[in-house]
Amino acid sequence: MSRLTRADLDALPAYVPGRNVADLAREFGIAKAIKLASNEVPFGPLPGVAEAVARAVLDSHRYPDMGVVQLRDRLAERYAVSPDRIVTGCGSVALAEHLAKATCLPGDEIVYSWRSFEAYPIISAGVGATSVRVPNTPGHGHDLSAMADAITDRTRLVFVCNPNNPTGSTVRKAELDRFLADVPSDVLVVLDEAYREFVTDDEVPDGLQTYGDRPNVVVLRTLSKAWGLAGLRVGFLVGQSEVAAAIRKVVTAFSTSAVAQAAALAALDAEAEVTRRCALVVSERERVTEALRKLVPDVPTSQANFVWLPLADQAAAFGAACEKLGVIVRPFAGDGVRVTIGTPDENDAFLTAAETAL
Ligand SMILES: Cc1ncc(COP(=O)(O)O)c(C=O)c1O
Repeated sequence: MSRLTRADLDALPAYVPGRNVADLAREFGIAKAIKLASNEVPFGPLPGVAEAVARAVLDSHRYPDMGVVQLRDRLAERYAVSPDRIVTGCGSVALAEHLAKATCLPGDEIVYSWRSFEAYPIISAGVGATSVRVPNTPGHGHDLSAMADAITDRTRLVFVCNPNNPTGSTVRKAELDRFLADVPSDVLVVLDEAYREFVTDDEVPDGLQTYGDRPNVVVLRTLSKAWGLAGLRVGFLVGQSEVAAAIRKVVTAFSTSAVAQAAALAALDAEAEVTRRCALVVSERERVTEALRKLVPDVPTSQANFVWLPLADQAAAFGAACEKLGVIVRPFAGDGVRVTIGTPDENDAFLTAAETAL
């Protein structure tokens, strides 16, 4: 058969979503599996979100507001930037794709730390750009000086994932200041802050507040995690207005649905509850980390809503063993296992499973 799709995509690993509860029910007959594989917050939709969704559905025969005016205004007010600097999308992963599309031509380079968010290689390949992966430090964080050294005259985009998915590690202000000073002004730096709301280390800068005004910085945020809208798909970015305008040109039309816009507005009205939930996640993160370190001493400190077990060759077997015990985690074979912080009961079940699995 003649070839219909690009040959280079054959070599590209597919995005692996966390396995779901129905998979385990089918495979092992486990009636009530616990899913700690996708970095979701476990407390259900925020108050007011379900009602806003129900109302928005009544207009679902109409296209959404393509300008996303009300939501952009609300985000602008919340984050103290002008609305023309904001672009929303179908999750921040879509915005990362749009960023690549708006900056790269085939053969250009995208620099990122590795291991990091597994969408980066897929996004890079999608636009025919070359992925330049800079190995994580032995402490599982970004090596920003090596990343600066990896920039060439073909580099168009750099992703800095802070906190890093899947290791939970962070870069602090002094390192980021140095790095940003080193990056040429014609290279766009994306501060991917999907987990910003869970950061408690004062030395880890809020990218928007600290670097948002730099011409070559874009900050990516999502409402999927702390704001509980993973299933509705809303992310946003903040960049300079010219950058935002260019990105808006490549955004898939109408990709922030009307339901997503309504849900995001309702979620933004429930910020006090977000803060309360994040504090619960953080306290559980500390408890789980401490317990895990008794089993795996080199579990790194996480500033996100997940923890990383650097199990190397044992990672896949550990993941499979946890699944058989009814707890779905996210193994990266040969490297480590990422475990999302759930409710206290879910975390206890995971810790029990981990003890057995190890
Ligand atoms: C670092 C990072 N960025 C972006 C995303 C994308 O999130 P979403 O598309 O749900 O906004 C994720 C999701 O896991 C992530 O871990």
